[in-house]
Amino acid sequence: MELIDGKAVAAALKQRMAERVAAMERKPYLVAILVGHDGASETYVGHKERACREIGFRSTVLRFEEDITEEALLGEIERLNADPEVDGFIVQMPLPKHISEQKVIEAIDPRKDVDGFHPVNVGRMILGLPAYVSATPEGICELLRYYKIPTAGRHCVVVGRSNIVGRPMANLLSDKEFNCTVTLCHSRTENLREVCAGADILVAALGKAEFVTADMVKPGAVVIDVGITRVPSDKTKNGWKLLGDVKFDEVAPKCSYITPVPGGVGPMTIVSLMKNTLLAAEGAIYGK
Ligand code: GUN
Repeated sequence: MELIDGKAVAAALKQRMAERVAAMERKPYLVAILVGHDGASETYVGHKERACREIGFRSTVLRFEEDITEEALLGEIERLNADPEVDGFIVQMPLPKHISEQKVIEAIDPRKDVDGFHPVNVGRMILGLPAYVSATPEGICELLRYYKIPTAGRHCVVVGRSNIVGRPMANLLSDKEFNCTVTLCHSRTENLREVCAGADILVAALGKAEFVTADMVKPGAVVIDVGITRVPSDKTKNGWKLLGDVKFDEVAPKCSYITPVPGGVGPMTIVSLMKNTLLAAEGAIYGK
């Protein structure tokens, strides 16, 4: 069994990007909009700011209170769409209930949508056209590339059909770069355990802590764990620990490769956002 070290791969890719950025006269500029004070969102945005600093990007976080109106938020998005200094921006999700996430996503100029959430980018990705690809699935693709994991003709089972992970992941793996045969499973899938047990590559992205047990994994499978659930713990200093969607201790010995939680997919997600921002600054997807 080989552990897929997302932290190390992320560090290597960030180093490569930093070298590219060092040679750029105009540094890429990423803006993040953060509404309210959700703990997880604060943490994610903090990680993004740090990654920008490490790579040499410019970055700003625009903070708004929970009670900002949808209209005012859409106004901010318009302003960022029109600001030629801003290469890309993200609106951290989730948003308060009175704001439509879909409206917000569709208000972002696809050319600045470095999260890859806009329907134009999702559609272009599915058609195999240049696009900003959603960060988590793109990060997983980078891990498969980095470890040169054979994928062609292999059966990949993706569990979870979210718009930002499961669906794009299934599409990317079925495309010509990876050539997997893909099964996309969800909460209504029958015989889920058996379907998972047939996977050469299993991507667990359903958001249920330790759902995937050893009996659901084929010997020699590649297991990619996208889950991050925070649970209380009396063994850590801060009083909580992170669990993946995979019961790591019993599944790991059966695998050829497995991603840990933390330190697997998580660090790669940030790197992919950085990569999209660099592509935006270079005009690599939509031109300048
Ligand atoms: N909330 C959780 N993950 C993400 C992400 O990748 N982008 C944004 N904008 N919000 C998120």
